[in-house]
Amino acid sequence: MNMRRLLAVLVLLPGLAWAAEEINWPMEPMEPDLQNTPSLQNGYRLYVNYCMGCHSLKFQRYERTADDLLIPHDVMLENIIFTGQKIGEQMTVAMAPELAKNWFGAPPPDLTMVERVRGAEWIYNYLKTFYIDPSRPLGVNNKVFPNVAMPHALLELQGIQREGCKQVPKIAANGGEMRDPLVPGKSITEEQCGLLVLEEGTGLYDAKTFDQAVYDITNFLHYVGDPSRADRHRIGGFVLIFLVILWVFTWLLGREYNKAVR
Ligand code: HEC
Repeated sequence: MNMRRLLAVLVLLPGLAWAAEEINWPMEPMEPDLQNTPSLQNGYRLYVNYCMGCHSLKFQRYERTADDLLIPHDVMLENIIFTGQKIGEQMTVAMAPELAKNWFGAPPPDLTMVERVRGAEWIYNYLKTFYIDPSRPLGVNNKVFPNVAMPHALLELQGIQREGCKQVPKIAANGGEMRDPLVPGKSITEEQCGLLVLEEGTGLYDAKTFDQAVYDITNFLHYVGDPSRADRHRIGGFVLIFLVILWVFTWLLGREYNKAVR
């Protein structure tokens, strides 16, 4: 068991209970891609702007991230490190955990290892399924993490989402057609009812750009969970090439020996 995995288990142990819980939501697939450097860079930029105010990455250093994601150190210092920290430092936040707990009811956990525990698909779907729910203290709820104590951090990008039929169950109960609350005249089926409807034009991004943004953040968290993964894959490739070359010479040598024996 390597160090990060051990830390993952210790730090996010309470999260495991959630992870095991069944999720009643049609999860969209998410395949991380460590070769996609622009995606990782964009994910990192979004993370710093929208998540790091609350969630530290305290087992990860700025410098390592800059080097792995091919970001020059001066660009990093000017555009990414808002906290006045040095490039060799860990990505911590200034917020005191006790205060944060008072504000949100639960302290925002460190996310260095969250992808190892929850998985990329979980995070991707979690970030996409915040919706308006006036009964919750922060006015939003989540399909993948019901009754979560996190606000909808990406609201300005995504825009407002609501649950499909919340406003129209009466029409259906009367035996009439169920109608989409947001698209006048459009009827919807029972199954679509529980799904989320986006109020178009309420966010800065269109649906496709938003999906990409959430993909990039998730991809970045996948990288952070095990920053050496890409190195290992590259080195693994070299090792295989080396073995092939070695095999050729071994085979030639074997042939020579055989000649001598005969
Ligand atoms: C205003 C503070 C705040 C911001 C900004 C914020 N979060 Fe959170 N987040 C929280 C809190 C508080 C929790 C704990 C919720 C709970 O346990 O109910 C949380 C929980 C999470 C979890 C679940 C962790 C777990 O395994 O239990 C993930 C993943 C997460 N946040 C990702 C993000 C990402 C990605 C962003 C940026 C797009 C972000 N958060 C922005 C406050 C925040």
